[in-house]
Amino acid sequence: MRQDIERIILEPERIAQRVMALGKEISEDYKNKAPLLICILRGAVIFYSDLCRAINIPVKMGFVSLSSYGENSESSGLIKIRQPLGWDPINEDIIIIEDIIDTGLTMNMYRQLLLEQGARSVKICTLLKKPSQKQEIALTYKGFDIENEFVVGYGLDFAERYRNLPYIGVLKKEIYAK
Ligand code: PRP
Repeated sequence: MRQDIERIILEPERIAQRVMALGKEISEDYKNKAPLLICILRGAVIFYSDLCRAINIPVKMGFVSLSSYGENSESSGLIKIRQPLGWDPINEDIIIIEDIIDTGLTMNMYRQLLLEQGARSVKICTLLKKPSQKQEIALTYKGFDIENEFVVGYGLDFAERYRNLPYIGVLKKEIYAK
């Protein structure tokens, strides 16, 4: 897979350090609560599993599968729930754990849905944020700001590949422009 990567932007050690800091922040902010951490499958799975272990207060774990990109390199603007949460969000203090925010459509739609379903509070934690937001996002926790480039690895894919790279890198254009 390495030959398909133009350059690495976040090495595993740098990601791990930032994840530890986010875990510490969340542990302090939620110290007398047991928040429900919702993993947005599939992209957030690796960030989520590392982040959960960097948090030292009790948490509940929930998983939902959302999709807006499908096999494309740009958001369709239409968010599909591939697999529902299967958990009643009523009165829960929720932190949505996301790998990347691009247009912001996925997070805004899902946050709104959880609030309509009766969640007590809904905050967003994303590892990466691109500058190309179409909508304002109330973002509480953020790992890194990145440029507007197509990145893969550490959970992020192109056509379901590269998720298992331990680093985050920019994909060569010829791979996704084929
Ligand atoms: C990606 C990513 C976010 C969303 C961000 O998911 O994981 O959920 O797009 O884009 P937005 O801010 O423009 O809405 P994708 O649809 O690729 O599914 P995946 O997580 O299964 O890869």
